[in-house]
Amino acid sequence: MADAKPTILVTGGAGYIGSHAVLALQQAGYGVVVLDNLVYGHRELVEEVLKTELVIGDTGDRQLLSNLFASHDIAAVMHFAAYAYVGESVATPAKYYRNNVLGTLTLLEAMLEADIKTFVFSSTCATYGIPKTVPIPEDHPQHPINPYGATKLMVERILLDFDAAYNFRSVFFRYFNAAGADPLGRIGEDHNPETHLIPLVLQTALGRRSAVSVFGTDYPTPDGTCIRDYIHVSDLATAHVLGLEYLLKGGKTDVFNLGNGNGFSVKEVIETAQRVTGRSITVVEGDRRPGDPPALVGSGDKARTVLGWQPQYADLEQIITHAWNWHQRRHG
Ligand SMILES: NC(=O)c1ccc[n+]([C@@H]2O[C@H](COP(=O)([O-])OP(=O)(O)OC[C@H]3O[C@@H](n4cnc5c(N)ncnc54)[C@H](O)[C@@H]3O)[C@@H](O)[C@H]2O)c1
Repeated sequence: MADAKPTILVTGGAGYIGSHAVLALQQAGYGVVVLDNLVYGHRELVEEVLKTELVIGDTGDRQLLSNLFASHDIAAVMHFAAYAYVGESVATPAKYYRNNVLGTLTLLEAMLEADIKTFVFSSTCATYGIPKTVPIPEDHPQHPINPYGATKLMVERILLDFDAAYNFRSVFFRYFNAAGADPLGRIGEDHNPETHLIPLVLQTALGRRSAVSVFGTDYPTPDGTCIRDYIHVSDLATAHVLGLEYLLKGGKTDVFNLGNGNGFSVKEVIETAQRVTGRSITVVEGDRRPGDPPALVGSGDKARTVLGWQPQYADLEQIITHAWNWHQRRHG
C-alpha cells in the first residue's frame, strides 16, 4: 500500500480560493487542517461541506500557532489568509501591512520554530503594477501601485531572505483574476463585500443588484473597456497541489504566474454572462478608476513547463457557467 500523504495547513481555507485548494488537496489524498479567523471566511463551508478540521484563529497569534504546530503533524503550509481589497488598502494601509505582512511573518516564525520549511504563498499580479509588456512574464519589474500589492511583494522578499538564511523553501504564485467555481457546484465565490466583476455581473443577472458598473470605456483596447485574464479557481487549486508536490520532492524556491495568457474585456465578460444566463444585464457606464491598467494578462508558460500545470477550464464561457451554477444554487 502507498504511504499516506502528509497533512497540510491551509490558512484562509474558509475563503474562496483556499476552500477550492482544500478540495484539491483532499482529492489528491492529503490530510488538511484549516486555520481561518472567519473575518471573511465561512465556517459551514469547512465543517459541513469540506468536512475537515477548522482551527478558528489568526495568523498573527503566535501562541495559537505554536500550539497548533505542536499538536498536529503538519508537513507544509499553504497560505491564503490575507486582506485583498485594493481600495480599502489605499484608505487603511496599516490594516493591510499588519495582517498581510506581520501576520505572515508571525506564521513564518512559528513554522521555523516547529521546523516546518515548506510554504506555498498566494501572491498576485498586483505586485507588477502597470505592465510594460503583456503577457507579463515572471521576471517583469515589480512596482506595485497600491498597498495591497506592496504587502504581497514584501512577503515575497521575506520568503527569499528566509530561503537564504534558513533553507526555507517556498513557491509563490502570482494569480491573475480568480473566477468560476467548483465544476460540481459544491463550493464557489461568496465574498462580502463583493468587488469582482463576474460575481457582480451574475448577482445583477439574479436581480440581487440593479446594475453592474463599467469603469472606463475609453481605454486603448478594442472595445474601450479594461482587459483581464480570468483564471478558473479549480485550475488555481490544481496548481497549488503541483507547487506543493514540487517542493515536497525537493524543488527550490520559485515563482510562477497563474494566468491563461488570454485576456477578456469587461464588455466581453458581460456579453458572455448574458449568453450563459439567458438574462439581460443592466450596465451603468462610468469614469475610469485611478490605478486600473488597461490590460493585465499573465503568461502561465513557466508553471506549465516546470510544474506540468495544464489548466482545464480556460474558456470564459465555461468559467462563467460554473460560477452561474454556483450562484443560482446559493442565491437563486
Ligand atoms: N481572488 C483573487 O482574484 C485573487 C487574486 C490574486 C491574489 N489573491 C490572493 O489569494 C488569497 C485568497 O483570496 P480569496 O479571494 O480567496 O479571499 P477570501 O477573503 O475569500 O479568503 C481569505 C480568507 O482568509 C481569512 N483571513 C484573512 N486574514 C486572516 C488572518 N490574519 N488569519 C486567519 N485568517 C485570515 C479570511 O477570513 C478568509 O476566509 C489572498 O491572499 C489574496 O490576496 C486573490
